[in-house]
Amino acid sequence: MKNMSSKTTLPPGPGGMPVVGNALQFQRDPLGFVREMEQIYGRMATIRIGKIPFVLCFRPEHVRYFLTEQQRNFTKINQNGAGNLRFLLGDGLLTSEGEFHRQQRRLVQPAFHRSRIENYADTMVRLTEEMLREWQVGQEVDIAHEMQQLTLRIIMNALFSVDSREQTARLGAAFNSVINNGGRALGRRNRLRVDLPFTRYHKVLEAKRTLDTFVYDLIAQRRKEGRDTGDVLSMLLEAQDEGNTMTDKQVHDQVLTFVAAGHETAQNTLSFTFYLLAHHPQAREKLLAELRSVLHGRAPTAQDLPNLPYLEWVINEAWRVYPPAWTQGRRAIEAFDLDGYHFPAGTIFVFSQWVLHHLPDIWGDPDTFRPERWDPANTSKLPQFAYFPFGGGSRICIGMPFAQMETKLLLATILPRYSPRLKPGFALELQPRVTIRPKHGMPVVLDATPVNTEAENVPTA
Ligand code: HEM
Repeated sequence: MKNMSSKTTLPPGPGGMPVVGNALQFQRDPLGFVREMEQIYGRMATIRIGKIPFVLCFRPEHVRYFLTEQQRNFTKINQNGAGNLRFLLGDGLLTSEGEFHRQQRRLVQPAFHRSRIENYADTMVRLTEEMLREWQVGQEVDIAHEMQQLTLRIIMNALFSVDSREQTARLGAAFNSVINNGGRALGRRNRLRVDLPFTRYHKVLEAKRTLDTFVYDLIAQRRKEGRDTGDVLSMLLEAQDEGNTMTDKQVHDQVLTFVAAGHETAQNTLSFTFYLLAHHPQAREKLLAELRSVLHGRAPTAQDLPNLPYLEWVINEAWRVYPPAWTQGRRAIEAFDLDGYHFPAGTIFVFSQWVLHHLPDIWGDPDTFRPERWDPANTSKLPQFAYFPFGGGSRICIGMPFAQMETKLLLATILPRYSPRLKPGFALELQPRVTIRPKHGMPVVLDATPVNTEAENVPTA
């Protein structure tokens, strides 16, 4: 129903070029562009990609409105920086809607309950220690690559009982190819999808074939063995709906979704946390002091985590400064009124963690990395949804407890042994795709972390 005082035009926004609208401005620098829109227009701005208007919403109460208060009036949009997510992930949990989504979510939810997640802690620490045994003091590595391999191995082990480095390496390369080429090859503006060698489209198809073959082989093998390992794959294969089990395609879409959503975000969290700690030696020393006093040199367990509050603040702050998922979108099912505007059915809305996590009126010094802002004494005045790295409402990230435990355990295992130092001359360039990732990886030198407390005040970065 229309509120008589609401305006029927969309909120103001920048003028665009014929045919492409604001697409070029957006593509040139997505992160700078969306923040600039907030600075110029305040609460909302309308941009046009081609002919299609996108209403950007910048206030926490907007996010609350879309994700919780009125969530039933919105569906997701699955077109973003990586092209069409549905093309890659089919009807997995991230991309499906309605009753199918609800039923699938109910089915796999038990695998992500906190009590169940704790069973994965040993695997997380064991695989990290394996990686550390191969690292050497003074060695140069791309920490982004290392974290991708590690988080992929963890997700494959924990959810699908697969432990093969060779497969992990192939899967990692295939995901990178989709992420690097998918935006241009599958975006709205590329209507010429010709599968010729050396084209981006061909590279994406090749990578997708690798991923699909891997997942279908995994399903076929498990169906043949008929064993129930109690993992997420067994849950999916045994699920019954009115007497029917899921088809291979349905299981495939869910598996691929978990592998994609479950490693890319965690890998970027870890890379950015190492980056931030390298630039903030005092925070790193404080974190190390906490780890030493709780762990006394032994490996961390899930039970240690409540005793490591500063570790949690560091990660929360890394998610604020560099939110892995940097934007979410919703499409209105029915017309509605908000902020004095009347929005017709079908209007698309975008709200961005990147913008909201950097609003100066909420955070004061938004570009400063300051873990202390997560001291509970300082968080009580934060408006709900000023911070939402995992989304919210019924579509909140199902992997949130998994990711929270994983990132803490991995840092608590790695940092007491190694303090990754950025290679001289490295300048971070952000690449905003489905997630924000470091565009050119993150080359570091693996310095040994001193074991004695006397050395705690010596900055190495
Ligand atoms: C730092 C780590 C992570 C971040 C920042 C993150 C962020 C998000 C966000 C923002 C959403 C909501 C998207 C939307 O509603 O538009 C989401 C959904 C989802 N995430 Fe995560 N995620 C992380 C880790 C994981 C992990 C480890 C898994 C799996 C093991 C996972 C699986 C999923 C799935 C399946 C959905 C779709 C849920 C649904 O729609 O019901 N995520 N994630």
